[in-house]
Amino acid sequence: MTANTVARFAVVGNPIAHSQSPFIHDAFSRQTGIALSYERLLAPLDGFEETITRFFSAGGRGLNVTVPFKQEAFGLARGNLSSRAARAAAVNTLWTHNGVLHGCNTDGAGLLADLHRLGYAPAGKRVLLLGAGGAARGAIPSLAEAKCRALHIANRTATRAAELAQSFSDLSDEHGVPITAGALRDIGGPWDIVINATSSSLDAATAFDITLDYAPGALAYDMAYGTEPTIFMRQASEQGAHTCADGLGMLVGQAAESFAIWHGVRPDPEPVLRALRARLSSNNDQAPDQ
Ligand code: ATR
Repeated sequence: MTANTVARFAVVGNPIAHSQSPFIHDAFSRQTGIALSYERLLAPLDGFEETITRFFSAGGRGLNVTVPFKQEAFGLARGNLSSRAARAAAVNTLWTHNGVLHGCNTDGAGLLADLHRLGYAPAGKRVLLLGAGGAARGAIPSLAEAKCRALHIANRTATRAAELAQSFSDLSDEHGVPITAGALRDIGGPWDIVINATSSSLDAATAFDITLDYAPGALAYDMAYGTEPTIFMRQASEQGAHTCADGLGMLVGQAAESFAIWHGVRPDPEPVLRALRARLSSNNDQAPDQ
């Protein structure tokens, strides 16, 4: 293939300069031998639709969508959504088929893959999910489908957590997984897996300080990531969590799922995660990507 005919992919967001997705997809490309180009696309806050329309009209094959456009992408692909995207009410993966826009959400699958990598399959586990925004919503279907024993959503604004739990009541019934909700106080426990899906973690000024009851052997998982352990991870370690992990593995996991949708081949995320970790350490680059 010549440079002109190589299939074009991109991640679109605002801001986008610090996205690690080009590094990840380039590494998957080398690993699988599938030629592609993958760039960063900055969309104006009021120009997402125009930006992606131009990209696909020019022959672009696929887009990852990041903050703040996942809900807008969901709206634009509304007629052709995967069940995961429909559930999450957000889209992070776009492609066209016969000129029609399609959307999926691979964040939940990426999280689940990373929990498995860490040796914490949710089946039979008591799971606490902190947060009730888009990141939390994306995680709930995967956790319920994985048949955790119980799922409790705790949020600063308790009503948002209650609404979220209510919106998944059919999934709760279908999988026999009790989904409950409450405030950040009185969370109860003990918990086998605690997932921080709030946006509070990287900034010391806005980090929340709650004491959690970690079960023996418990995992504390922060969807955020950085070059150092996040504040949430440090707190969890002090409070007795056995294992603490950040969300870099989820980032690579969701990318692997997008790659599989576009190319029909699922790459191995492990070596790419190792390379990305090393790259972040050497660059001292802390910007989140999801
Ligand atoms: P995202 O799509 O990344 O989930 P979001 O929809 O803005 O972003 O949701 C952010 C989440 O982080 C919410 O659950 C928010 O709590 P509220 O619903 O009460 O706003 C939570 N959050 C953000 N900053 C926080 C903080 N300092 N302490 C506790 N929770 C925080």
